[in-house]
Formats: sequence, structure tokens, C-alpha cells
Amino acid sequence: MILFKPETQVFHISNKYISYIMEIEEGGYLAHLYFGKKVNDYSGNFKYPRMDRSFSPNLPNAKDRLFSLDTLMMEYPGNGFGDFRESAYNLKHGDGSTITDFRYKSHRIQKGKEKLFGLPATYGNEEEAETLVIQLEDKEKGLLLELSYTIFQEYAALTKSARIINNGETKTKIKKLASQSIDFPNQDLDLLHLNGTWGRECQIVREKIEYGTKVLDSKRGSSSHQQNPCLILAQPQTTEFQGEAFSFCLIYSGNHEMVIQKDPYKQTRIIMGINSFNFDWQLNPNEMFQTPEVVLSYSSSGLNKLSAVTHDFFNYHLIRGDFKGKERPTLINNWEATYFDFDEEKLLNIIDEAKDLGIEMFVLDDGWFGKRENDDSSLGDWFENRGKIKNGLSQLANQVHSRGMKFGIWYEPEMISEDSNLFRQHPDWALSVPGRERSPSRSQYVLDFSRKDVRENIYRQMKELLNEVEIDYIKWDLNRNMTDVYSAILPSDQQGEVFHRYILGLYEFLENLVEEFPNILFESCSGGGGRFDAGMLYYMPQTWTSDNTDAIARLKIQYGTSMIYPISSMGAHVSAVPNHQTGRNTSMDIRGNAAMAGVFGYELDITQLKEEEKKEIKEQVAFYKEHRRLMQFGRFIRLRSPFEENDVAWMFVAEDQSEAMVFYYRVLAEASYPLVHLQLSGLKEEWIYESEEMTAAGDELMNLGFYIDPNLFGDYATKRFYFKRISPCLE
Ligand code: GLA
Repeated sequence: MILFKPETQVFHISNKYISYIMEIEEGGYLAHLYFGKKVNDYSGNFKYPRMDRSFSPNLPNAKDRLFSLDTLMMEYPGNGFGDFRESAYNLKHGDGSTITDFRYKSHRIQKGKEKLFGLPATYGNEEEAETLVIQLEDKEKGLLLELSYTIFQEYAALTKSARIINNGETKTKIKKLASQSIDFPNQDLDLLHLNGTWGRECQIVREKIEYGTKVLDSKRGSSSHQQNPCLILAQPQTTEFQGEAFSFCLIYSGNHEMVIQKDPYKQTRIIMGINSFNFDWQLNPNEMFQTPEVVLSYSSSGLNKLSAVTHDFFNYHLIRGDFKGKERPTLINNWEATYFDFDEEKLLNIIDEAKDLGIEMFVLDDGWFGKRENDDSSLGDWFENRGKIKNGLSQLANQVHSRGMKFGIWYEPEMISEDSNLFRQHPDWALSVPGRERSPSRSQYVLDFSRKDVRENIYRQMKELLNEVEIDYIKWDLNRNMTDVYSAILPSDQQGEVFHRYILGLYEFLENLVEEFPNILFESCSGGGGRFDAGMLYYMPQTWTSDNTDAIARLKIQYGTSMIYPISSMGAHVSAVPNHQTGRNTSMDIRGNAAMAGVFGYELDITQLKEEEKKEIKEQVAFYKEHRRLMQFGRFIRLRSPFEENDVAWMFVAEDQSEAMVFYYRVLAEASYPLVHLQLSGLKEEWIYESEEMTAAGDELMNLGFYIDPNLFGDYATKRFYFKRISPCLE
């Protein structure tokens, strides 16, 4: 899959879907040539044309003026010796200089993919993947830069990362080291990204890339609700079903930075990695710094196809452990049912009712530990609150298990409340700058997870409980962003490392935890989707998509999230009406249909429901359980966008195309509403499919489609169609 041609000095990485081509250019600079649809054999003709451009410097000792780094499509650009565009790295050396000039040294090609030291990453064995490592060096400073590329046989995707090794004699400061950079030649491109805030995550923004530089980032210490660490480039005419598109997804949960730059020659540069804001890493002689990984995916036929690549790739080459590819349980979570106001009896009533309804797991949310009666106290005191659960958590877990259900619990391990035993003992364990007051958020502070002693304390507390209580699931929350970022144990000139060291500490903690407790299903959460990123998915196969459980708001949130992340990773619950976040009233039907397009659960007081509502829930649960494989791991296809229309639709198709589930949602009702018809996708043309409403061949369902009942009445209406193949294959 990886070829190097010495005659042309060209690297060609390819599989049956994609090609990624680079060339060692004049002076040993690594130039980028192409990323896109597979090319069988590259001739060498796409070499960057030579011409004299004014104000574009030439290489030292150049014989003519025809070659400049200022315009060249670069693979990992630096600044200060010709290229004035955005740089992938910025190093400050002992002598105060900031020029680093990396030139090709050597390369190696190896089967499989090595683990990334201390960081989450995709994985593949020797049959599945091949890796190219290109070494570039700055001879003057003794610095080695290694760029890694892994291509996977079966996916239109490749991964990139960088690392730097200090073989010199003096220390260097890394001010910036991107995970990847790529240049696209002159063309109009659209940028799609997932912007938002709490309760409104992953809103798709599509805009034309204009001249100049745009930065999308997070400085919050986590990947954030505000800007998911991924982006998509698409041709202006690209739709869900047609046109070229490229996605870039950073496997990292901390501060990130994505730079989109269009130069005056209409070349577009994309640089992604750890945010350079307040980042400053000391690299001593013989030390190495590894960047997070970026996944690049490609589709020649629209955004749906592009999403399908990352969905499958993440399901099978990022998510690990016992739950990889496995069906996930339906759950009831007590948060919106009780908030902090619960006792054992109340929980048991919910549990009994859930069992009757066929729900498979009970999750005890916030409030079971320390003296936690509200969100003002006890984070850091991870021992049970007997005041609330008088017979203890073990007993409660047994009660749940004796009903044939699983038992899950909530944690927020990275946090500390001022009103906690832990804070009283170790006030210096919270991030804070000496002499300054900390800024609380939700009355809590952030534990300094860059510190081993801090992590060990929390780990020990968790382990004690997990060894004592039979726990099947953990929701790992993070309910604030980082301020006062300063670590009591690092010297003053290394405080620029704290943000990243925190994330490395978190990853180390999670690695130990998932290894020691492989049977626990983890769901990550940060006030909903505040840390919905590929880094967390490496440890935790699910994420709570949003605290906003309103079915209508969820259409956009889930639609946006699905651009990159698999449905198997998206927690989605039916909650009470009026909805607690928006005040909206919607039917049980649409709440069910919205949440079923995710990992399904409930989050309301089911003991307070009317009999007909319970009946409906029972049917929903049974229906979801019967078809969950299709929804969690089937091919997800977006049909109509909530960002563009009042009529929203998406569908799931089984891998063997033998069945499909279609969901339609109409947001607002109008009189004399135009007829709506859905044209399906992903079916086998010649197969006959049957649903309750119709029987038709795949080609008819995909080309003509079918009308939605024009008599649907009222706001927030919905329909669900389940199709199953009935004819044998005609081939
Ligand atoms: C966060 C989560 C919620 C809930 C609360 C508990 O906001 O997103 O689902 O767990 O914390 O405090």
C-alpha cells in the first residue's frame, strides 16, 4: 500500500479507495502533491511548476529564482526560511532563534501500526494496515522530526501524526507542533464544522473558504461543546449523496486548534493539532514529543459516504474492549427523574418499573457519594452516601441484578468541590495560581490531573468501590472547563505544559481503568457533548451526546454529531415533557423515534406515567431491542437535514442490505402542506422489501420513493418504517 520511487522521489500511499502522494523536493523539502480518489500509478507529472514569483524567497545557494517555499504545496511547513503561510511547528532554541529547517533524512515502511506513546490512537494489525515514517532533520540543532502515515486496507482513511526527538545538546522549547498539515491546490472549497455550546452541540456550519486565515479551536482544556475537533472540506456542489469531501478528525480531548488558510494563489492549507495557545513544552536532549493523531477520510460520493468511513473506522479501529461491535443495553437514568432528590425507596420504585418496561440497565446518576445533596459539595469524596442509600450501594446493585438488570453509576473524577474532605486535606490539588483566587464553575474546581499523586488518590477511591460493588457501567462526567491552569509541582518555565500534561494524565488514568475493569461499559460525558471526541472514544465506547434531551433539538445535535461519530457512540434518551431544557411538549412517539437513532435510554420518572404512556414505552423498548443492531451498527444515511428543512429524515441499512429502518420527523405543522416523499438509499436495487405500509423493490424505493401520509396532523409529527427483504436474491 506504500510505495517509494527513488527515480521521482515520490511517496505514494494508497489502497483501493484513496491515494496520498508526497515528493521530496529540491533541497530535501517534503512537498505535498495529492490526497483524494485512488490513482493507480502516479507518473510524476504533477510536480510543482517552477516560476519566479516576486517577494518569494529562494533556497540558500539557489542557482535561479524559480523555486520558493512560499508557494509550494508543503507537507509539514515551517516558517522563517521562505514559507510565510501558517506553520505546522514553532520551536524556540536555546540561542533564542526560532528557525528550524527540517529536510528529508530517511524513511521506513512497516507493516501494521505502532501504538502512540501515551495517547489514544486508531489501531490495525499487520494484515490490515501499513505505516510510513518519514524522518526529517534539522542538522544544525540535532532535531529529528518523524511524520507517520498509516493506511488501512479496507477504509478510505489514513492517519497522520508527528513526533520530534531532540538529538541535540541543548533544550528546545516547542511552542507549536501540529499533528498534521496538508495543502490543497487551487480550487474552491467549502468548510463544514461542528460549532455549538452547552445544550446545542455539533451544529453544522457550512461556509465557503475565503482568502486569509481562519482558526477554529478550543482553549477550554477540553475538546469542548463550542468546537468539535474535526472538520470537513467539500466541493461547493457536494451534497449528502454527491461530490468529493474530506474529513479531518483529531484524536485528542484537550485544547485543539484547526487552522484553515487560503493563500493568494487559492491554495488551501489545513493544520490541526494541540492548541498552541499557552502551550510551551520543554524538550530536553534525548527526549521525544509525540503529537496526537489525525484521521483523514475521503469520499467521492458525498457526505453520507464520508461519515460511513469514520463510523466504521471508529467502530472497529478506535473503539476497543469487550463492547467493540457489541450491542449496547437500553437504560434508565435517574438524573432528570429525581436530580439530587432520591432515596433508596424512590430508586427501587424506578428500578421495578423499568424492569416491567423491559429496560436492561439502571444508571444511578449524580448524588450517591459524599454528602452530595446538591451540586455545591463532595466531588472528590467517592464513598457512598448512606443517608440516601440506607442499605448501601452493594445492596442496591444486588437488588438491580436480582431483577435481571445491569447496574451503572455516575462519576466526575477530575473534579473537586471546595466543600469536600479531599479539598480540606489537599487544597493545593486543584489547579490554581499561587496567590490568586480560583474561579469556581458549578461551585467546583479542576483537580490537577497532571499530578500522579492526585490521580493515584482518585484511582484508589474508585477502585475500592468498584471492587466492592458490582458495577456494569460508568458515566464519566466533566462539568466545567479549566481555568487557573497552573500546577503546584512544575517549575515556572514549564507551566506551559500543564494543559497537555493534564490530558496525558487523564489518558493514563483511563488506560489503567479500562484495563483493570474490562467488563465495565463506559460512557463519557461533559455536560452532554462537551468532550465528544475520538480521544475519549478510545477508552469509552459511548458519549452522552447532549444534556438537551428535547426531541426536536436532538434532531440537529444528532445529525451534526453523526457527520463524524458512529451512532453506536451516541447516547440518546427519552425524557419528560415539558422538556427540562426547552420547555417543549412533544409526543412519546417522537421522543422515542429521536432517541432510537442512538444508544437508546430513558431519563424521566417512569413511576409517574399514565398507563398508556407506559404501554408505549414498553413497545418502544421491545422494538428497539429487536432492531438495535441495525440502529447501532447499521449504515446510517442522512436523507433530509434539520439545518435546511422542516422535514427531517434519516435511515439505517443493515450491512447485508436485508433490512432498513427509516425515521421521518416533521418539525412544525402548516395548513396546505406540500406533499413530502422520501427516496431511500443504500438498498439492493433488485431486492423486494416489505414494510407494514408497502411492498416494493429497492430501486423503486430509492428512485421513486414513497409519500409520507399527508394527513399527519400537528407539530412534531413522526413516522417510522421498518423494511425487510422478502425476495431471494435475483443474481
Ligand atoms: C452533567 C451531565 C448530566 C448529569 C449531571 C449530573 O450535566 O451531563 O447528564 O449527569 O451532570 O450532575
